[in-house]
Amino acid sequence: MRTIETELRRFDPNVAIDRAWTPPSSWYIDGEFANWERDRVFRPAWQPVARVEQLKARGDFVSGQLAGEPWVLVRDTHGELRAFHNTCRHKGREVVQGCGHAERLVCGYHAWTYDLDGTLRRAPRMAGIQDFDRHAMSLKPLAVEVWGPWVFLNLSEHPTRLANDLSPLLARLEAGGWGKLRFVAERNWDIACNWKVYVDNYLDGGYHIQHMHPSLDAQLDMGSYRTEVFERFSVQSSRSASIRDDRASLDPSQRIGSEALYVWLYPNFMLNRYGPCLDSNWVIPVAPDRCRVHYEFFFLETEGPSARRFVEESIEQSAVTQREDIAICESVQLGLQSQGYDRGRYAPSVEIGEHHFHRLLAQDLQRNPVSSP
Ligand code: FES
Ligand SMILES: [Fe+2]
Repeated sequence: MRTIETELRRFDPNVAIDRAWTPPSSWYIDGEFANWERDRVFRPAWQPVARVEQLKARGDFVSGQLAGEPWVLVRDTHGELRAFHNTCRHKGREVVQGCGHAERLVCGYHAWTYDLDGTLRRAPRMAGIQDFDRHAMSLKPLAVEVWGPWVFLNLSEHPTRLANDLSPLLARLEAGGWGKLRFVAERNWDIACNWKVYVDNYLDGGYHIQHMHPSLDAQLDMGSYRTEVFERFSVQSSRSASIRDDRASLDPSQRIGSEALYVWLYPNFMLNRYGPCLDSNWVIPVAPDRCRVHYEFFFLETEGPSARRFVEESIEQSAVTQREDIAICESVQLGLQSQGYDRGRYAPSVEIGEHHFHRLLAQDLQRNPVSSP
């Protein structure tokens, strides 16, 4: 009988790419496997849950869910960013929902009221109750860190520092005016595939670009495409095409600039950096065969008619590529669910980032015990 442990052992992270088989399809379709992954991959992972600009003023808050955990981010009265389990210490209701601005966080159920630093300030009808210590009933904190325009959250008790992991990347992004990019728009795509299918497709070293993305292919100099692998991230890059090709809907020198950078942060966050713009893709698992990809678009220039036209055309170009990728990913998911497929092989000259991803994943999945939230 196949158990999760035996399926995990079918991918050996120590086997070199030219001899390795890809992880078996059970990793992409099995519900129990998805739970195992949630506990070992997503709970200990830093996730880009909000943008710093959403939490500018003291009292601004944003809430949501991550790996089944409700969370709330808040800018406290001292201007510090804080994160908490968004779970009222009374009966467990979410203390707040959505986003907004508040002097205090008031649970809508019975009005238990928390200061912005998480301290329980008021609990109606609880005065004088035996063994009730209001000071021991604060909201439970979570780790939070700012990197670039995003606020990242981590559900584990002893997370590594995100910024330390990514320090080699920062200089490269800063060289391209990273700090001057302005948020313009966001968009969500619901896709009928496992989140890893989307990531695998992103990390195939440009293998599918020629076959599936004619317009993007025409904008890149595919001979210059390369993948660099670092400890917890990888960078794919390509120079822009030097001659205008009729298949390109936008002038490559205008949209791509001199170089396209495709940055992937383990496990599920990508940054696509072109000359005057950046888009981020956060791949959120929803079910074993479903994910949501949250896109955010940033541009260096946003004012004036030509900048606005460029923003619109660029977002549309991204949607063209995304629709092509969705068609691929949904078809791959069908294949993974088929009895006719078990696992495959890597093309070692290009699928380097994908193999690196699977190795990191296997290391986390095989880790025991689960780190507690
Ligand atoms: S559950 Fe929050 S006040 Fe009762
Ligand atoms: Fe693609």
